[in-house]
Amino acid sequence: MMNKTLACIALTLLLPIHAALADVADERKSPLGYGSKGYVWGTISLEQAEVMKLVPDARRGEEAFRGCRGCHKRDAAGVMDGTYPRLTGQHASVVIKQVTEVRSGLRINPKMDPFASDHAVTPQEIADIANYLSTLETTRENGKGPDNLSVRGKALYLRNRCGICHGDNGEGNADKFYPVVAAQHYGYLLREMVHIKKGTRGNSHPRMVKAIGKFSHADLEAVADYLSRLPDYRRVLAKGK
Ligand code: HEC
Ligand code: HEC
Repeated sequence: MMNKTLACIALTLLLPIHAALADVADERKSPLGYGSKGYVWGTISLEQAEVMKLVPDARRGEEAFRGCRGCHKRDAAGVMDGTYPRLTGQHASVVIKQVTEVRSGLRINPKMDPFASDHAVTPQEIADIANYLSTLETTRENGKGPDNLSVRGKALYLRNRCGICHGDNGEGNADKFYPVVAAQHYGYLLREMVHIKKGTRGNSHPRMVKAIGKFSHADLEAVADYLSRLPDYRRVLAKGK
């Protein structure tokens, strides 16, 4: 009886500590990633090269994506508050880079680890899922900032030439592995830029860290808000044609 009571007290005391640790763990610097000795951006791992060589199948990808839906949701639009990012319309090359770099430990993501490990998905399934996601339309509305700061955000984006890599419409660059940043959830964009600024996003382009490093928190909020309010880049590009 006594032991049971003690165990209960221990559990109630430990649970909040455990939860707090899990959050702090997200802030860990990757020992292999940005800021570590010998880090070179864009080194393609053997697994990334292997996945990129496979012939993908979007239908099989839809099946395999079942294992990802718990967080990224059935339509892959993530969660409005940005806890889980939107994956619809992301370049296949970017999805492959991010997933294989979570697997290699370059990008730390303890929440996703067990679902993206090689026990959970094969290289072929990564290729299939990446292809499937790149074909998906952006349907549901995404999370925006609490205030419309897009004028200030746009000025910062232009002045710091973020578009050299992420494009004028936030469309990224599939060939160069630069992610789409348009129409992404505000909460996710802001969190990533805080990580990039602090050097705790393991896979970061050093040129971007330098630019974002000069931003105040208010600047980061403005840029995140601007990007979250951009429409799906595919709609913009289709109109221009
Ligand atoms: C338990 C929750 C969870 C599951 C299941 C999960 N993810 Fe994630 N995923 C996350 C979180 C959280 C992030 C954002 C991490 C961060 O903030 O750095 C993320 C980020 C990503 C990203 C990076 C997006 C970007 O814009 O850089 C990709 C790609 C991704 N997940 C793909 C997948 C795939 C494919 C699966 C299934 C094989 C999967 N995820 C399953 C939680 C999950
Ligand atoms: C030299 C190219 C380059 C420049 C310049 C650049 N970025 Fe990036 N950015 C990247 C790459 C590459 C990633 C993905 C991280 C990786 O895979 O290494 C990224 C990721 C991001 C992300 C997270 C997206 C996601 O889906 O996880 C945001 C937000 C972002 N950049 C914003 C910016 C802003 C704002 C600027 C301008 C201050 C900027 N970037 C300048 C290359 C660049």
